[in-house]
Amino acid sequence: MSPVRASPQTIQEAAKRLKAGKLVAFPTETVYGLGADAANGRAVAALFAMKGRPRFNPLIVHAADAAAVERYALLDARARRLAEAFWPGPLTLVLPLRPQAPISDLVTAGLSTIAVRVPDHPVARALLEAAALPIAAPSANRSGGLSPTRAEHVAADFAGEPILILDGGPTVHGLESTILDASKEDIVQLRAGAVPADRISAVLGTAVRREPAHETRPLSPGQLASHYAPRAAVRLEATAVMPDEALLAFGGNVPSTCGPQFNLSPGGDPIEAAANLFAALRLLDAQNVKTIAVMPIPEHGLGEAINDRLRRAAAPRNGTVLA
Ligand code: TXA
Ligand code: MG
Repeated sequence: MSPVRASPQTIQEAAKRLKAGKLVAFPTETVYGLGADAANGRAVAALFAMKGRPRFNPLIVHAADAAAVERYALLDARARRLAEAFWPGPLTLVLPLRPQAPISDLVTAGLSTIAVRVPDHPVARALLEAAALPIAAPSANRSGGLSPTRAEHVAADFAGEPILILDGGPTVHGLESTILDASKEDIVQLRAGAVPADRISAVLGTAVRREPAHETRPLSPGQLASHYAPRAAVRLEATAVMPDEALLAFGGNVPSTCGPQFNLSPGGDPIEAAANLFAALRLLDAQNVKTIAVMPIPEHGLGEAINDRLRRAAAPRNGTVLA
C-alpha cells in the first residue's frame, strides 16, 4: 500500500486495523516502526514473517505513558528515574516482565524481561491513544536492512504488502532508541542510540557500562555484525575515493570525487548527521555503486551510535557477532 498522510481519520483507521490484528507502519521520533498488537500472538507472528526476522529476537513494546508501561513491566526506583528523565523519548528500557502481563510470548521471545519505551512523536502518541493497546514495533524494514526514516522507505521495502503506512514526514533523530538493560543490579547499555550515553550517566550518577555482544543473551539483531546493511559494500575511514565508489561525507575537507556523494553534515554536526544517515545510505545505494566509502566520524556524543551502525553496515555479511 502507498503511504497515507497521518491525520485524525487515518490514525483512527490505523487503530482499528491494529485492534483487528493487522499491521500498521507509523513514524516515531527515531525511525518508522512496523506495529502489531503486542497481546495478539497471531498479529505478532505475521509481523515476524513480514520482516523476515529470526524468531528468537524480541521486540520493543511501545506504550502511551509510564503508567501504561507499569501494566507490562516492573519498574524500580532507578527505572522510574530514567523514565522520568527520558520519556516520552528515544530510550528503551529492558525491565522484568510483570507476571501475567497481557503480552504475547513471541514479543518477549519467552524471556522474563520486556523492552519498553514511550515514543515522543505526535503520530505515534495519537495512535497509541486511539488503539489503547501496547504496540510491538521493530523498525519497519526487512530484517538486516537499513532502518526507514521516511514513509517512502517503508513503502519501498514492503511494496505489495497489505500494511497501512502512516506518513508523518522524515523522523527527527534518524537513529533507533538507545537500549538499556535495567533488569539487573548493573545497568548496561545494549545498543547505542538516539540518547547519548553521557546524558544517561548524568541521570544515573554513574558511567553506563556497555556490554560486549557475545555476553548478551539473547542476541539482539542490532548486535549482529552485519546489520543496517545497504546492498553495496561499505568502506570506513575513507580519506580518498576510488573511481567505482560513492562517498558518504561528513564535515569539511571532503576528498574530491566525480561519483555520487552525500554529506551527512557539512558543518560537522552529529545530530544532523544521525538524522540523515539511513536516508543517505539508501540514496547512495540506489546509484548502483559497488562500494560506499565513508569519511571518519568523531566518536563523541551521537557519533558513538552513528559509528556503531556504520561498522555493522561494513561488517562481513555472514551473521558473525560484533562486540
Ligand atoms: O527506535 C527504536 O527503538 C525503533 C522504533 C520503531 O521504536 N525500534 C527498533 O526495534 O529499533 P528493533 O526491533 O529494530 O530493535 C529492538 C532491539 C533488538 O535488538 C532486540 O533484540 C532488543 O531490542 N530487545 C527487545 N527485547 C529485549 C529484551 N527483553 N532483552 C534484550 N534485548 C531486547
Ligand atoms: Mg531494526
